[in-house]
Amino acid sequence: MDKTIFVSLRFEIMDFERIREDFPILRKEIEGKPIIYFDSACQSLRPKQVLEAMNRYYEDFPACAGRSIHKLATEVSIRIDEARGKLARFVNAEKPEEISFVRNCTEALNTVIFGVGLKKGDVVLATDREHNSVHVPLLKLKETTGIDYQIVPSRDDETFNLDKFSEIAAESRPRLVAMCHTSNVNGTTIPAKEVCKIAHENGALVLLDGAQYVPYGGVDIKDIDTDFYAFSAHKMCGPSGVGILTGKYDELSKIEPRTYGGHGISMATRKHADILPPPERFEAGLQNYSGIIGTGAAADYLSRIGRDWIVTHVNHLNRMATEQLLKIPDLKIIEPGNPDLRSGILAFNIKKRNPHDIAMILDNMENIMIRSGMHCSHSWFNDREIEGSARASFYLYNTKDEISLFADTLRRLQ
Ligand code: ALA
Repeated sequence: MDKTIFVSLRFEIMDFERIREDFPILRKEIEGKPIIYFDSACQSLRPKQVLEAMNRYYEDFPACAGRSIHKLATEVSIRIDEARGKLARFVNAEKPEEISFVRNCTEALNTVIFGVGLKKGDVVLATDREHNSVHVPLLKLKETTGIDYQIVPSRDDETFNLDKFSEIAAESRPRLVAMCHTSNVNGTTIPAKEVCKIAHENGALVLLDGAQYVPYGGVDIKDIDTDFYAFSAHKMCGPSGVGILTGKYDELSKIEPRTYGGHGISMATRKHADILPPPERFEAGLQNYSGIIGTGAAADYLSRIGRDWIVTHVNHLNRMATEQLLKIPDLKIIEPGNPDLRSGILAFNIKKRNPHDIAMILDNMENIMIRSGMHCSHSWFNDREIEGSARASFYLYNTKDEISLFADTLRRLQ
């Protein structure tokens, strides 16, 4: 038997119910019905292990890290260092100092895009499905600095066109390649290792938006060989309000921070301030200590379950949902049709139905919670003259029964 399937079956039998029990919200009901949460690409639910770790901060050592030297502050500093170490292992960073805690993935991406020193005429390459947190900063730099922001068009099936990327990179010699690792629009994943190789051969640095990739059990940034990598805690079972900027230490050290304040400065006179190296460089101001500790607990939680199991489980659900939704007349899945290429995302439209209406009806009828609209990636929808989509996103706590009820409810809309 294939090793992945074996791991998956063993885990399925032993531990799936335990996973569901870890999420207190899944034990609650709204209007007498359970919650069916298919909006994890926006924000995942949190297990009790994360909630408990966060509460411990407020109950047992509610102080500042890296400043005061009393016992409570020392305890927080130790816990933050531990969390940094956990995140470093989760992404296979070279050392914990390559992990900086910021507010969210958006802040991490903006920090690199504005801090890498792009100048007039510098080419930046992105996919056609970037989230606004990459697309809009690049548009701004195009307006203000005159960078040459170019897009790599997708293939007809909406997957990444590596050949086209290679061609454009060779012609344009980009300074930066900034791309989503996995798309929040259609769930497709770029071949990140090949992208980095081609980018480096053509003299570019690489920034990857890993917000939708990392929740499936981490990432190996060393193997991919990316220069910068950004993601958020709130999509990986962690709290909202924490993002992670990571990458190669030498490259991070050259990035000019966007925010200055306490922590992050080693000395200041009336004339000059010395900025600390990473990670402090990007951590100005008092931080979300509870959130950072919770993020460490989330990384532990996902590591225990493992990427193999999460990917297999979610893919299984997406295949099942795709099969059932394809039978519904007038329902069109956003490409690619093959669920194996869409991670946990199934975005769709139904003829003559507004996506927001679909989302509201599913919520009203069965507490099925999906997202609708343009998913902060307006440019992709505008290019295609589509008003948006209904988007279900599946994660480690979802079940086959939930998928069946989802398909049944959509059938009842006909
Ligand atoms: N951009 C996030 C999403 O796709 C919030 O839902």
